Amino acid sequence: MSDDGQTGPSADEPSGPEPPRAPIEIEILTLFPGMFAGPLAESIPGRVQSRGLATVRVHDLRQWGLGRHKTVDDYTYGGGAGMVLRPEPAAAALAVLRRPDSTVILPDPGGEVFGQARALDLSKRSHLVILCPRYEGVDERIRAMIDLELSIGDYVLSGGEIPAMVMVDTILRLLPGAIDAESTAEESFTAGLLEYPQYTRPPEFEGVAVPATLTSGHHEEVRKWRLKEALRRTWRRRPELLEGRQLSREESKLLAEVSHEENVRATDETTRSSETAD
Ligand SMILES: C[S@@+](CC[C@H](N)C(=O)[O-])C[C@H]1O[C@@H](n2cnc3c(N)ncnc32)[C@H](O)[C@@H]1O
Repeated sequence: MSDDGQTGPSADEPSGPEPPRAPIEIEILTLFPGMFAGPLAESIPGRVQSRGLATVRVHDLRQWGLGRHKTVDDYTYGGGAGMVLRPEPAAAALAVLRRPDSTVILPDPGGEVFGQARALDLSKRSHLVILCPRYEGVDERIRAMIDLELSIGDYVLSGGEIPAMVMVDTILRLLPGAIDAESTAEESFTAGLLEYPQYTRPPEFEGVAVPATLTSGHHEEVRKWRLKEALRRTWRRRPELLEGRQLSREESKLLAEVSHEENVRATDETTRSSETAD
């Protein structure tokens, strides 16, 4: 499979229900195996594993460390602060763990920004190996052993463990059977939009009532309300997600309504604030 994240069937591939799949296997290479116990054992990641949909194995990278002290890092050539992960322990670990079907991932602030499309792509692969660096990062020669470098955002964490947890959690909940398929289909980003607002009881809280459509019991109206509010939230908060999106006729109509309502609202607000200032 290519690393462009495109996994849809080609024109000559048969479509139809996907055949049952072997559980995805994920290997995590870290100097801090204890960090993974909680996040991967609880809630959805824990349930996914206990149902046999995935196997996640955490390996202590230090077992492949060098010499009596199992050294994994060293000073940076050329001088400068901080230590760098040496290539030999990573190479030795990958020599054991890598298989022909593996995708080896390096969390790295300079990598491709990890998103829902990439998560879905990775959820369809059979074997992931995630190498979690610490220190100042990795010896540059480690990158030649990597299939995919992924960043979880424009900030720097202390190590690759939390990014790996973010990736694994996102991937596991996308596995068929992990959670209600309807939930993942409607979640933010899956349909290319942010999710619509959600409400639960009580019907009124501090003077704010649940929108009447949601309690009407009218399924078609609820569906339309949700689509429109998803478009509104995306338009307000992440307009770039709408650029280049192929809108259905219904979406175009609802978006035109949203844009009109939002313009009226903005004009009203400007009028109100200038009246208050007077
Ligand atoms: C302290 S950081 C090293 C940062 C590196 N010196 C730099 O400036 O790019 C140590 C490790 O944490 C992980 N890491 C930190 N921030 C990350 C991010 N935003 N996304 C993915 N991994 C990250 C990477 O594996 C990185 O090698």
